[in-house]
Amino acid sequence: MKNFFAAVIFMLGMANFACAATSDLIFDSSIGVEKTLTCDGREIKFMAYENISYVAEPASEIQKLSVYIPAEYLRGEKINGYSAETAPIFLPNGVGGYMPGKILAPVENDRMSGGANASLVALSRGLVVISPAIRGRTTTMNGVYVGKAPALIVDYKAAVRWIRFNRDRLPAGDVEKIISNGTSAGGALSALLGATGNAPEYQTYLQALGAADERDDIFASSDYCPITNLENADTAYEWIFYGETKYFQAMWQLMPPTDSEAANNPVPVKKSSEMTAEEIRVSKILRDAFPKYLNSLNLRDEHGKILTLDKNGNGSFKNFIKKKYIESAQKALDNGEDLSGVDWIKIKKGRVVDVDLKKYPAAVTRMKAAPAFDKLDLSSGENDEFGDEMNNPRHFSEVLFNENLADKKIIAMLNPMNFIGREDVTTAKHFRIRHGAADRDTSLAIPAIFALKLQNNGVDVDFFSPWAQGHGGDYDLDELFDWIDSVCK
Ligand code: DHB
Repeated sequence: MKNFFAAVIFMLGMANFACAATSDLIFDSSIGVEKTLTCDGREIKFMAYENISYVAEPASEIQKLSVYIPAEYLRGEKINGYSAETAPIFLPNGVGGYMPGKILAPVENDRMSGGANASLVALSRGLVVISPAIRGRTTTMNGVYVGKAPALIVDYKAAVRWIRFNRDRLPAGDVEKIISNGTSAGGALSALLGATGNAPEYQTYLQALGAADERDDIFASSDYCPITNLENADTAYEWIFYGETKYFQAMWQLMPPTDSEAANNPVPVKKSSEMTAEEIRVSKILRDAFPKYLNSLNLRDEHGKILTLDKNGNGSFKNFIKKKYIESAQKALDNGEDLSGVDWIKIKKGRVVDVDLKKYPAAVTRMKAAPAFDKLDLSSGENDEFGDEMNNPRHFSEVLFNENLADKKIIAMLNPMNFIGREDVTTAKHFRIRHGAADRDTSLAIPAIFALKLQNNGVDVDFFSPWAQGHGGDYDLDELFDWIDSVCK
């Protein structure tokens, strides 16, 4: 009898708890305030509903999001052909350097874009904006590190689930048209969100946070210079940069920033360093390991031709990468840029006819000594990202290491390559991937492999390498939102 009462009390408690948990996720439109900002000389009025918890049992106080809705939609008006019912939902994340990401509120003067930020431009073009803050590798709760992998993707998914849970309460926005956006580590996160829709691996993590019991697949994913596929990023880096032994780092690698904005705006350290004999030795091992990985992917170009590399790193995949740089340089040339001083491309009669990848590393310069990501001394941001709850860094690539590795399941949960083409996953229908031709943070091969695998699995991918563009994002917002219109309308 005692047990019976205990069970009833327990069940009542659980029911009460479950109700409280779900009700905590209900969107309350009464907190909205109207704001006005100027974008391109035009006044943009919008409703702001800020700092809303997107999980019922947060692991950190930062797990909050803000909703921004063009004011027109509350009056039943249309913008850019969208209505309150059809407006896509732009879901930017502010993650950089695998650090905690802040909510990206609309602002008029943004360092990344040089003007209105992506959130404000999105509103001006009739999109609803929902931006979650996201745990990062330095997030703690009572001295415990609660933001290590896979926290960032769990949070982004929880935000998507929150949106779907509130589909009938949000004043505007089509929950079947969610479009993620991010840069660098945030680009990797955006790529991962797009590639892992409803993947069962994340379920227990989401449940533990009291995330809404909803789908977490999205419609489209915009990924600027994604620092992704981390287990293979070292080999891809040496495939491009092998032979270049001078490197200079960005300031944030020497002095970890306290926020993601600093991580997104690295200040180059002028003084270059020389790689040690040991680093040069592993550089060769990593370079030599890349063809095997690349060939294991069975990638095909748009004509169905298999893309491979021989043991020296030459072959059809290399030609594919060269073509991406040729395409990039040609566009710059067509736009009237003077490329006569660029020694790694060959121009004949106004056409870019070849690129010399051997000369590329000296021209663009190496940023990171080998290994670029999974450091011998565990000192990288990525080692930290895969660290444990007590902040001990871990290895994550088996190319060089067989000890002190992070949990293999967690490593796999951070790599979008593992999810593409799986029956139990809903991949976003559209991806836009950008990686600057002068980006030295990761090899162009990494986003290229990701784009190809998506394409080979029937996904619509717009992949381009903008000329002279270094590591950064949101630099082409007009084109980004044109692309969003083109896939949504
Ligand atoms: C970022 C840049 C890097 O070079 C890196 O290794 C990880 C993250 C970033 O800017 O987010």
